[in-house]
Amino acid sequence: MEALKRSEGKRFFPLSIDLLIPRSPFEADIYFKIGDEMVLFRKRGLPLSRRRINIWREMGVKRIYLDTDDYRAYLEYLRGRLSTVMGDEHRPSEEKARFLYSLVGSFVEEMLVNPEDETIEKGQAFVKEAISYLQKGPRLGKKIIKMMSHDFATYIHLNNVFFLATTFSIHQKLPPKEVEKIGLASIFHDIGKERIDPKILQKPSRLDPGEWKEMKKHPLYSGESLKRAHLTDEEILRIVEEHHEAADGSGYPKGLKEEEIHPYSRLVQICDIFEALCGVRPYRRPFTPYEALKLMKTEMRRKVDWDLYKEFVRFLGPDYYSKLLKRR
Ligand SMILES: [Fe+2]
Ligand SMILES: [Fe+2]
Repeated sequence: MEALKRSEGKRFFPLSIDLLIPRSPFEADIYFKIGDEMVLFRKRGLPLSRRRINIWREMGVKRIYLDTDDYRAYLEYLRGRLSTVMGDEHRPSEEKARFLYSLVGSFVEEMLVNPEDETIEKGQAFVKEAISYLQKGPRLGKKIIKMMSHDFATYIHLNNVFFLATTFSIHQKLPPKEVEKIGLASIFHDIGKERIDPKILQKPSRLDPGEWKEMKKHPLYSGESLKRAHLTDEEILRIVEEHHEAADGSGYPKGLKEEEIHPYSRLVQICDIFEALCGVRPYRRPFTPYEALKLMKTEMRRKVDWDLYKEFVRFLGPDYYSKLLKRR
């Protein structure tokens, strides 16, 4: 896992600066990464003020590092504080959006580093809570989509697909229970990639037929991991297993067509393709959202659910809609 750093036998996890809540005292050693080294910057037990966090932010510090035990303990603490932070009237909505995005991202990252049944089970309750905030304030989801980061890391992809798919389903006025299924499926859809050889996942050139055959198994691997963690909802499993199926039958693993593919799988598929195109890859520059939507229109028209694609464009913004779909 790319985000995990090692130094002097210790393992460090990065924590977004957006997740630091001023605490007094702050019960964890704080490290900064300087070059390739982890440097102890602040001993545990010292108070951490809002002013100090702002100074770091102004210095351009985006993340601090905690060792494994402190990191897990701090995430637990943050999950307990989520409702207070989200309900805080004095906190600007941008800050809430960044907090929710980073916290879900940290959860996904932990799940990828430590893909045990317990992490997945524990994560479910947390994901449901995150979705409830998106349902209460749909503008929050839009804000998150605007500030998404696109990096070459699976956890950022899962995090982004989660926010795109849940916010899009809320926009589509799907009932809360259905949004929850889509949210859970989208956050877990690629965890099966953990079983694929990193050499295949990160290969900078085209996969050979054998590698491609292995890669195509990841939706089924994701489904197996969820079943093992007692996430057995039929629809959630279908979405996970069908997220690479395509309307024209050219997808995988089963080559299903149009209505054979669950409508929610088609929704997650669109968000997944869009996010992957906007992300950084070693062999190409990332597409802008407009370029990604355009490419989907010109080259993937038969692969996606066309009506849903149009809705997705409308959801992302009236500008995109008038540029891409209004002209004859
Ligand atoms: Fe996938
Ligand atoms: Fe994906």
